[in-house]
Amino acid sequence: MSCVRRPSRRPLGVPRPSTVLALALLASVSGTSGVAGQEPLSFERYREAIEPIFLVDRGGWGPGRAPCVTCHAEQGTPLRLQRLRETAGGEVYWSEEDSRRNFEVVSRLVTPGDPDRSRLLRKALVVPEGGAALHVGGKFFESKSDPEWQAMADWVAAADPVERPAPPRLDFDFFRDCVQRMYVDKRPGDVECIHCHETGVRGFARHIPDGRDFWNQEESRGNFAITRRYVEPGEPMMSRLLTHPLAPAAGGDYFHGGPRRWDSTDDPEWQMLAAWVRGETPECVVGAEADAGSG
Ligand code: HEC
Ligand code: HEC
Repeated sequence: MSCVRRPSRRPLGVPRPSTVLALALLASVSGTSGVAGQEPLSFERYREAIEPIFLVDRGGWGPGRAPCVTCHAEQGTPLRLQRLRETAGGEVYWSEEDSRRNFEVVSRLVTPGDPDRSRLLRKALVVPEGGAALHVGGKFFESKSDPEWQAMADWVAAADPVERPAPPRLDFDFFRDCVQRMYVDKRPGDVECIHCHETGVRGFARHIPDGRDFWNQEESRGNFAITRRYVEPGEPMMSRLLTHPLAPAAGGDYFHGGPRRWDSTDDPEWQMLAAWVRGETPECVVGAEADAGSG
């Protein structure tokens, strides 16, 4: 994939983040409802100063070197960006509509008014500076004074804090009794998840001890903990458990080392999993039952 560096074209009149944050906090603490026009995250500034960061060519490949977009376009990570378009001349870009979709996704990964608590900012920042413990994509920012990090921080800090509903809770019992049945269910022509996901870092369907054909409570807890890494509560399309085995034409990830279990998000089983990810407890439809209509 070719990547371009898109320098931002005009200097930004950026208010000092600390000042803005302090004012915003003050306003919320004193309960001043004079904040009639709350300052939302700015799309314009996002498009001009933040989105280009995802495209920057850092002169290498792999973690810590590749442009963010190499791993983050159409992949089911929480930072799920749109696929890039290409001009006749081979220059890559996002249309305004693409950028709006990206903006929606990115907005969910930041805490307006609070850069330090924003997932977008913590992920690629080194741990001693307050970064997240792990990023499969590596660390890109050695310090908070990195100009790119600063640009993101300024953008986030300029917005007023908003109250967000807490993400939904995933129903463990449903996972134990239903989602795990999907892990061992074989669709014609396919291999079961458990066949490949019994061990290793992606071992969310651990080996079932001999003499049993299903996991017990404790083993289910273990599977749940690993599965949890691939689920973004409230966001089915940001959850790799649902996008990895989904056909790319239906919005699935580019690549899965295993089969595509669902051709479409209309598949009753996919719909059921999506409901679970949204915090619901749907009726269990797995495999053949999904075709036959469940009972
Ligand atoms: C080599 C591939 C790769 C590159 C390059 C990469 N990432 Fe990631 N990123 C991932 C993967 C895989 C995940 C999901 C697993 C994880 O959380 O580490 C992820 C997760 C994330 C998340 C989700 C955070 C969360 O709380 O769940 C954010 C935000 C993110 N990356 C930001 C970035 C930014 C910003 C860049 C570029 C500066 C970048 N990534 C570059 C692979 C990559
Ligand atoms: C034939 C083997 C095979 C089968 C069957 C299989 N997978 Fe995978 N899966 C892989 C391999 C290999 C990877 C690692 C490479 C990749 O990301 O695709 C993987 C990765 C994943 C990931 C993690 C992606 C990441 O970013 O680390 C998820 C989630 C996943 N598979 C879900 C499933 C589900 C759900 C099923 C059953 C419906 C399934 N897989 C069936 C081989 C398989």
